[in-house]
Amino acid sequence: MNILLTGGAGYIGSHTAVELLQKNHSVIIFDNLSNSDINVLDKIEKITGKRPDFVKGDVRSREDLQKLFDSKKIDCVIHFAGLKAVGESVAEPLMYYENNFNGTVYLLQEMKKHNVKNIIFSSSATVYKPTDKNPITEEYELGASNPYGRTKLFIEEMLKDLYASDKSFNVVLLRYFNPIGAHSSGLLGENPSGIPNNLMPYICRVATGKLEILSVFGNDYPTKDGTGVRDYIHVMDLASGHAKAIDKIEENCGLAVYNLGTGIGYSVLDIVNTFNKVNGNLVKYKIAPRRDGDLAEYYACAKKANDELGWKAEKTLEDMCRSAYLYEKNNG
Ligand code: NAD
Ligand code: UFG
Repeated sequence: MNILLTGGAGYIGSHTAVELLQKNHSVIIFDNLSNSDINVLDKIEKITGKRPDFVKGDVRSREDLQKLFDSKKIDCVIHFAGLKAVGESVAEPLMYYENNFNGTVYLLQEMKKHNVKNIIFSSSATVYKPTDKNPITEEYELGASNPYGRTKLFIEEMLKDLYASDKSFNVVLLRYFNPIGAHSSGLLGENPSGIPNNLMPYICRVATGKLEILSVFGNDYPTKDGTGVRDYIHVMDLASGHAKAIDKIEENCGLAVYNLGTGIGYSVLDIVNTFNKVNGNLVKYKIAPRRDGDLAEYYACAKKANDELGWKAEKTLEDMCRSAYLYEKNNG
């Protein structure tokens, strides 16, 4: 298939590009490079021996989208492009609605105009209403609690409305849990600018001495060791989930929703201890107050993706910690 990856130069998109090229799909990356670097194309080529097609552009620009769809043959779109920082979305909600929501409206209009009716959307576990009933299945009640999450939820609703109006679309909503880790080559990975908000990038910077100590946000949650529990998934497992979703689209699946998680919950201390075990004792931590808005524990029920996509996360927490650190050492 000829697959367009909006936001394909970013963290998840670049790993997915590798997976799709290795499965002999053609990949076109469309990205405004607001949170990524053009040299990712060289790295993808180095890993796969194939260079993805690249078009610089913005999903908020109807003109950019029109040129793209006029000039390329596209069978399916994986829509990664968007902003993703929860805190920033609270401070700048309109920026998030414009980029994530409007950008998606324009993209879908252009797709419809060109009769491109296959889309996979990067959604998030953040669309689920906070719950203490784990594991979280796809049927759980929805209800995001911040502007970023609402952009994901509203886009999901828009895609459902679109499908209801035109059943010749195939729409796959992938709800990612907590993606971490990096390609085993150490060439691709996650490199957030500034001080990281998320756990694994923060740990990696403590390990390389760029940050002094990790603050563990709370050790009095009702969890196995008192620290927050999440479903961390290796980014290459996530990438293979997208390849399986493409196979599903090729079967004309209509509208489908899948969690992409491992189904296993790890605590903050599990992550720190495993990281220290596989990479040497590099990460010091201190217990700090809880972070506003954090839930004690959530992890996916990953059964539906297993049953219907034939997909299962295979990499271990050790793999996630080792690859994340290798990338940080090489690129951070
Ligand atoms: P990322 O920031 O690394 O990648 C996003 C890419 O989109 C970047 O390359 C950026 O330059 C590009 N982009 C942003 N706005 C654009 C625009 N208007 N036009 C064109 N390109 C644009 O993020 P990521 O971690 O790879 O996330 C990819 C998708 O997955 C996002 O939609 C994100 O919300 C979603 N998601 C991420 C996580 C996570 O923890 N990383 C979890 C759940 C869902
Ligand atoms: N944590 C720390 N110290 C840190 C950073 C995080 O103890 O410096 C803890 C958090 O309290 C939480 C866990 O590590 O218990 C994971 O935190 P992250 O910030 O890495 O991830 P979140 O689960 O809070 O959120 C992430 C993304 C969201 C997304 C959500 C669900 O940041 O955008 O996963 O997909 F919506």
